[in-house]
Amino acid sequence: MHRCFTRFADQGRQCSVRCMSSVVRKRSALRSAFPVLDVALQPIQRHVYEANLRNTHICLKKYSELKEKVRKGGGEKAVARHTERNRKLLVRDRLRLLLDDDDDFLELSSFAGLGLPYGDVPAAGCLTGIGRINGLWCVLIANDATVKGGTFYPITVKKQLRAQEIAIQNRLPCIYLVDSGGAFLPLQSEIFPDKNHGGRAFYNEAIMSAMRIPQVAVVCGSCTAGGAYAPTMTEEAVMVHRIGTIFLGGPPLVKAATGEEVSPEELGGARLHAEVSGCVDHFAWDEKEAFDCTRNIISTFNFQLPEEEEDTSTRGEEPRYSSEELLGLAPRSYSYSLDVKMTVGRLTDGSRFQEFKARYGTTLVTGFAKIHGHLVGIVANNGALSYEAALKGSHFVQLCDQRDVPLLFLQNTAPAAAPTLSTSQAEMNSNLLKAQASMMSAVACASVPKITVVIGGCHGADSFAMCGRAFDPNFLFLWPNARVSLTAPGHAGSLLSPDDDEEEEKQVETLNKRLEEESSAFFSSGRMWDDGVILPQDTRKVLRDSLDIIKQQRYQLSTEKQQSVLLRM
Ligand code: COA
Repeated sequence: MHRCFTRFADQGRQCSVRCMSSVVRKRSALRSAFPVLDVALQPIQRHVYEANLRNTHICLKKYSELKEKVRKGGGEKAVARHTERNRKLLVRDRLRLLLDDDDDFLELSSFAGLGLPYGDVPAAGCLTGIGRINGLWCVLIANDATVKGGTFYPITVKKQLRAQEIAIQNRLPCIYLVDSGGAFLPLQSEIFPDKNHGGRAFYNEAIMSAMRIPQVAVVCGSCTAGGAYAPTMTEEAVMVHRIGTIFLGGPPLVKAATGEEVSPEELGGARLHAEVSGCVDHFAWDEKEAFDCTRNIISTFNFQLPEEEEDTSTRGEEPRYSSEELLGLAPRSYSYSLDVKMTVGRLTDGSRFQEFKARYGTTLVTGFAKIHGHLVGIVANNGALSYEAALKGSHFVQLCDQRDVPLLFLQNTAPAAAPTLSTSQAEMNSNLLKAQASMMSAVACASVPKITVVIGGCHGADSFAMCGRAFDPNFLFLWPNARVSLTAPGHAGSLLSPDDDEEEEKQVETLNKRLEEESSAFFSSGRMWDDGVILPQDTRKVLRDSLDIIKQQRYQLSTEKQQSVLLRM
């Protein structure tokens, strides 16, 4: 019996040694290193590189000016009113108390609200982003009450809905820091009635809960009228004594209706809502206590994060080329684009890249790489999206979808559509149309996560095939040099008939001027056609965070429910 057992044990050991060596082989096969890209800057490329660099520095100056404008929120007077008279913390200090590390906060659309027809609304009056709380990535939506009392402009509504959409698409918990006077009344018609207006945020809260996306509100200011539903519809709410108020109509309305004088605290303060109405679940004496309480609530979300997830910054080999060189690779215009593999080599682990169809359709570069250990499929423009390039793109996108590999699009599309000046060109263009439609379809239907970074131009239908905003990427970021418009500035002539009269020329000139103004990255970001402008040298970090964020949903333990948690007694 004993001998028999030993034999089995020996056999087992041998078998396990065999199995282990095959595991080691399999693992090393999976780990096998992709080829290193040889993409050092060549002397012949230097003049283009320098011209790009000069342009990028101009864009970075504008970037810094806008950052400073946003940092000031609603201005000195409003900040003083907020901190001294109302004794509240500023929105960024609130985030500091809540987040594990505020340097790690992936702020979204920070330039939203700048340069709009109705004026500048710094950060759209509401900070949004994704940060770690107790190790868990959460979407944060935080009103900035220094900007017109934290009221909702149309762009604020858009920003909040986009943040909720990100929470839904990536299944991230959502934390609302509520401090808002509700709708910005002069623009009520652009905020209230339509599907994607204010009410949609409440609708989303309900369906997000049913989708098991946990949501918590911290009431650290006013929640008036429509705003009162925001905390009441979250799954759990914390309210701060003397600072938080929730009511449908404030004291002036009560006075007007009944003649009764009532304080905000009596009408809808933290005591009333925690002890009598039950609209909130936790009472906090001050903001610090409220954020500590919120951190504890987040620990009950029942995610089990693997330990290795805690520090991802050192995961993966660093690229062999400096990320600072991306500043000179960011094209000032399409004709200043250098080989996109030079950009790829400054983003991927060890500058390694397993290229797919390297010799076919070379105006699109496709292949696999790792970014901080995350395997991704890269699709990058390297010229016009030709017939062959579009077929290759379609093939590669479907391949990544089949293998569940997230896609990274590096977008720099041609400035204008291909012209049709002869019948043979018309035939070529029809074929091109079919190939591009096929790629668009592959991109639209791919169920893997997609991230798009516009590193140059975002023009015409090519930009849809390269997963532009309408194609629903999980995240879409712009470099500061990016240009977003139907056709690039200087190419308006391609949109109008080629008549040679003076009137026509004037029209082209006016349109080109308009394209110049309306295509800048900051114009786009002010209107939230993207998730923010990022610095080229930060791209690898932003991609790492985005990929970590997308992956987190794997670690949630609870199962999907049919109903939302809403019934408060
Ligand atoms: N629409 C448009 N502007 C508004 C506004 C609203 N709903 N609520 C406040 N504001 C403006 C104020 O006019 C003021 O503008 P100013 O800086 O140009 O003077 C600014 O926001 C700050 O408001 P103020 O009242 O001075 O600050 P506060 O800190 O004392 O109070 C609120 C802020 C939000 C509590 C208070 O303004 C309030 O109760 N507003 C009305 C809320 C309401 O009834 N909303 C209904 C929406 S359906």
